Amino acid sequence: MNKEQIEDIIRKYDNHEGRILGILEDIQEIYKYLPKESLEFVSEKLDIPLSKLYSIATFYSFFNLKPVGEHIITVCMGTACHVRGAKDILNNLMELLKIDVNETTEDGKFFLTTEDKHFSLNTARCFGCCSMAPVIRVDDKIYGYVTIKELPKILKTYGWKSK
Ligand code: FES
Repeated sequence: MNKEQIEDIIRKYDNHEGRILGILEDIQEIYKYLPKESLEFVSEKLDIPLSKLYSIATFYSFFNLKPVGEHIITVCMGTACHVRGAKDILNNLMELLKIDVNETTEDGKFFLTTEDKHFSLNTARCFGCCSMAPVIRVDDKIYGYVTIKELPKILKTYGWKSK
């Protein structure tokens, strides 16, 4: 962790409401997750109980408390996507990425990362584009009308190699 970098972020939000969220978002943008030491540092600097920071970080599903892969794949499991086969898409991605079905993070969120840390896989409730169901997101890009057949092609775009 780079203390100066985190101090810059804290300074930036000094006079803004909701600054804790902004600070955590900025830290996550750098590290792609919230390292424990960075939360401890923010807690100390701002005199905010560490437990409060953890409760914010676990409340908002976009915060990660564990290191994540280079590319994050999120499968929508909302109703529209669910009825159009989201579960099969998810199972197939797990199979292709060879990641363990039963792992969850310590905060109970579903978040799986491949051994080589190239991909992380998680789920969401709805991306707000139900008409394109089933939908997955890779990093910031949304893929609609996804089929199992095209999953390898999508993964290859992000450097996946079938073994
Ligand atoms: S339910 Fe999947 S995008 Fe809305």
